[in-house]
Amino acid sequence: MSTKIVREFSRFASQYGQYSMIQEQVAAKLVRDTDVIPRRIIDLGCGNGAIYRQIHWPFERFLGIDLAEGMVACHPKGSGVECVHGDFNDLEWLLRLESMGFEHIYSASALQWAEDLDALFETLSLFNIPLSLGIFTCNTFKTLYATADLPPLLRSADTIMRSAQRLVGARFELVEYTLAFESKQELFGYIKRSGVSGGRNVLSYSQTKRLIQEYPHLYLEFEVLFIYTR
Ligand SMILES: C[S@@+](CC[C@H](N)C(=O)[O-])C[C@H]1O[C@@H](n2cnc3c(N)ncnc32)[C@H](O)[C@@H]1O
Repeated sequence: MSTKIVREFSRFASQYGQYSMIQEQVAAKLVRDTDVIPRRIIDLGCGNGAIYRQIHWPFERFLGIDLAEGMVACHPKGSGVECVHGDFNDLEWLLRLESMGFEHIYSASALQWAEDLDALFETLSLFNIPLSLGIFTCNTFKTLYATADLPPLLRSADTIMRSAQRLVGARFELVEYTLAFESKQELFGYIKRSGVSGGRNVLSYSQTKRLIQEYPHLYLEFEVLFIYTR
């Protein structure tokens, strides 16, 4: 199993309020790397439309699926574009989409929240259509977790790749993103506002204060495993 490893560097610019800039890059890469242009598209965990905004070709149907009602409400809708409330952990429900003639499934920065990745990949393989998935790994915020003495929240790239053996011909790319900040204040403000911590708030006030003092970098680390099938 060969995995291409890529490193990317960005600088956070607070004046633009770019709290989802890494997620935007993930969505852009997934769409950019598409080989065969699909006309009927599913986006799992579509959020407010990062994948949709990257698609600049004419399509017939775009179906965004998200668990959060607030996201469904603000995803663009219109001719051929729908966004529905749905749970990618509900595999029976997901499989009902299999007979609807979709040609490609995207998922950007969402499947790290899958409860059972083996079962989800098993289900996605039954669609028998190309997949483009970007999944955050446990190396996201790795120094932050180590400094706070907390176990990482997410799966490792190896664990995800083992689950992905269920996807025939899966190709992997591991991208390490570094996001640099001007100050610790800006860095910790980003963590709070970006929602990347999965809502986990396990540190007390004094532990957080110590973490801010002891965190050794002016950057945050993210790691995303990209999985592509044809
Ligand atoms: C980090 S956001 C990414 C959103 C968008 N794909 C993007 O690239 O900006 C993760 C999204 O996954 C959604 N999500 C999490 N668990 C889900 C589930 N079980 N089923 C459907 N959507 C889910 C969240 O509501 C959220 O909108």
